[in-house]
Amino acid sequence: MVSLFKKKPAYQPPVDETGRKAVIDIRGVTKTYLMGDIEVNALRGVDLQIYQGEFVAIMGPSGSGKSTLMNVLGALDQPTTGEYFLDGVNVSKMTESDLARTRNQKIGFVFQSFNLLKRTPALRQVELPLIYGGAANRTKRAKAALESVGLGSRLDHLPSELSGGQQQRVAIARALVTEPAMILADEPTGNLDSRSGTEVMQIFQSLNRDKGITVVFVTHDPWIARHTNRVVILRDGRVVSDRMVSQPLIAGKDERPSEADEMESVLKDAYYGGKEEEYN
Ligand SMILES: Nc1ncnc2c1ncn2[C@@H]1O[C@H](COP(=O)(O)OP(=O)(O)OP(=O)(O)O)[C@@H](O)[C@H]1O
Ligand SMILES: [Mg+2]
Repeated sequence: MVSLFKKKPAYQPPVDETGRKAVIDIRGVTKTYLMGDIEVNALRGVDLQIYQGEFVAIMGPSGSGKSTLMNVLGALDQPTTGEYFLDGVNVSKMTESDLARTRNQKIGFVFQSFNLLKRTPALRQVELPLIYGGAANRTKRAKAALESVGLGSRLDHLPSELSGGQQQRVAIARALVTEPAMILADEPTGNLDSRSGTEVMQIFQSLNRDKGITVVFVTHDPWIARHTNRVVILRDGRVVSDRMVSQPLIAGKDERPSEADEMESVLKDAYYGGKEEEYN
């Protein structure tokens, strides 16, 4: 007998022209926050595909929805409407415990404010995700992660005994110790001086290039964004620009240009398309 109900074909992640699969595939995603009676439309219909091994900067004015989008991408928050496929799996259909497991296995997070535990030494901070995940060789792996970000001699230091740049590197070690397929970072260089910001970019570039880890991060700094391969710009909860960076800068090699040159960067039009005072 012929079924009256056509079976929906199984989801196939889109593929880019070089054959890479989409690890992030969001379609028509909206996010509305309710503040009493007032609705805040933080995302107003975002479609975005990010392919395996991409290195992407998300930019846009304050309030444009960048953090909201990162929370959705990191499966920390569900969209109000729309669909999200993470590494081929429909996140909107997952239970909370499956979500937590997926986050732990696939994603490493880095935040602007480091989010380190105050009274915990560096080595222990980096071991924590492995303890939650029940992994073996925890100390050895945590030590290797800290060494990979140049902190092999700071294992016993508390956050208060480290510089801002070093604290952020502990946070990066914590994000990568579980060997995630993807690192998501919300303004990881936002609280850092220029030199420490460059160190963070060096680490991200090498994770992306040498280990093939997909890196997506938010920045307000056009010069930092030019170290990536692709820049996506949000405005008012929508993607208004999405372009490849033709010649990405190499962290630690390319000098930061003067303010005037920076304004001439390829991003100027899209980024400063609105009123100057909206931007920070
Ligand atoms: N939990 C929340 N409840 C209510 N409104 C929120 C919440 N989080 C964000 N918003 C609102 O959603 C909009 C987008 O906020 P979001 O934090 O995503 O912006 P952003 O682009 O990250 O800005 P910034 O550059 O300042 O970090 C803003 O108007 C904000 O006020
Ligand atoms: Mg934000």
